[in-house]
Amino acid sequence: MTDKSASMNLPTGNFDFPVLEGTVGPEVVDIRKLYARSGMFTYDPGFTSTASCESAITYIDGEKGVLLHRGYPIDQLAEHSTFMEVAYLLLRGELPTQQELDEFTYTISRHTMVHEQLAVFFRGFRRDAHPMAVLCGVVGALSAFYHDSTDITDPEQRMIASHRLIAKMPTLVAMAFKYSLGQPFMYPLNELSFTGNFLRMTFGVPAEPYEVNPIIENAMRRIFILHADHEQNASTSTVRLAGSSGANPFACIAAGIACLWGPAHGGANEAALNMLREIGDVKRIPEYIARAKDKNDPFRLMGFGHRVYKNFDPRAKVMKATADEVLKELNISDPVLDVAKELEHIALNDEYFIEKKLYPNVDFYSGIILNAIGFPTDMFTALFALARTVGWVAQWNEMIADPEQKIGRPRQLYVGHTRREYVPVNQRG
Ligand code: CMC
Repeated sequence: MTDKSASMNLPTGNFDFPVLEGTVGPEVVDIRKLYARSGMFTYDPGFTSTASCESAITYIDGEKGVLLHRGYPIDQLAEHSTFMEVAYLLLRGELPTQQELDEFTYTISRHTMVHEQLAVFFRGFRRDAHPMAVLCGVVGALSAFYHDSTDITDPEQRMIASHRLIAKMPTLVAMAFKYSLGQPFMYPLNELSFTGNFLRMTFGVPAEPYEVNPIIENAMRRIFILHADHEQNASTSTVRLAGSSGANPFACIAAGIACLWGPAHGGANEAALNMLREIGDVKRIPEYIARAKDKNDPFRLMGFGHRVYKNFDPRAKVMKATADEVLKELNISDPVLDVAKELEHIALNDEYFIEKKLYPNVDFYSGIILNAIGFPTDMFTALFALARTVGWVAQWNEMIADPEQKIGRPRQLYVGHTRREYVPVNQRG
């Protein structure tokens, strides 16, 4: 809280509202009493100017391209930490000591298996079901299996549910993949790293040993860290909104998964690679740039633009370097990477993209890496969901523990009919 206040000169009178100050970032006008005092609402579709909560987890400065988790820059975390360290940091607020990390890793590894009955759920889906459709269902279904961690008033149960979600997501995502191939599900192997275990459950088969490739393991570690949290984005806000009614955490994360699926959000990595493949040749780039600029064409350059980043996406920088590294080390030459680099070059020098501050986002290069590793495109968003589960549970825990938390209930500007009388069907003209 500051001594500052903001005066609003409204049609219903003049009002002063407190101005709140965070540790860093823009100050906010506290308008919680606006309606009670002035009889007016604010109008902000897409929440472009509205802070929906107080949070100490992630900070983004979109102008400067800064992304901090609990104060630590994303590039340092992507370079030096394990995914378990980042998960601990987001969930508990501090980087763990070695002992805390060992205990946390042990705890997560004890929750990696899923109830055998849950496997039956998969059999209800068509083999060609999109993995996100499967995940919406099976993650929601976890609520029906783990009743001992759905009492959200108990902090211990909340933490157990959080551990379960972080631990079981890789197992469920890998099961969705295996199911689509018609291969047997692989049980987790807890001696492996979080990422190594996931790779084995995805690409291994019970008939032979699976050796984790350290280059791929490292690339996946980075991809997971880069996607772990991103403050109040659409899916995280969905998790918070669902959780604000007191819904159980498994149901809330299923809601987040549904939101993430859309092409403007987590679905962009799949859409970006499909777009690059469709372009296919650097010669066709101008045609697609022209389409992106054409107001009458709904086409957008997927993997470009961001609501918050208006200079560059710091995650995209790490992702681009990782794409170069992985393709080189795996000795893969992918013409799609050339298309991506040339498209980036042309767009960054084009007046339209400069003026609108459109830059490649995290999803522009991630698809190329995931494709090189061997994931089909429809698995990309599921991998995003796996990593973002850590951020979702951290944000959900923070919200439930926040004494200011209320059920989320936006208001509206009503533009429909005013009251009118019902007309029986035989009298309607
Ligand atoms: N290609 C062409 N034009 C674009 C693009 C794009 N990718 N993104 C924005 N614009 C234009 C848009 O047409 C609008 O122009 P005008 O002012 O003339 O109407 C202007 O830029 C502002 O766009 P907006 O849609 O109002 O901006 P937003 O903040 O609501 O949308 C966005 C942000 C990410 C949804 C959007 O940039 C987009 O659709 N990008 C492509 C999808 C994508 O890559 N999404 C992944 C985001 S990062 C990962 C994640 O968070 O999930």
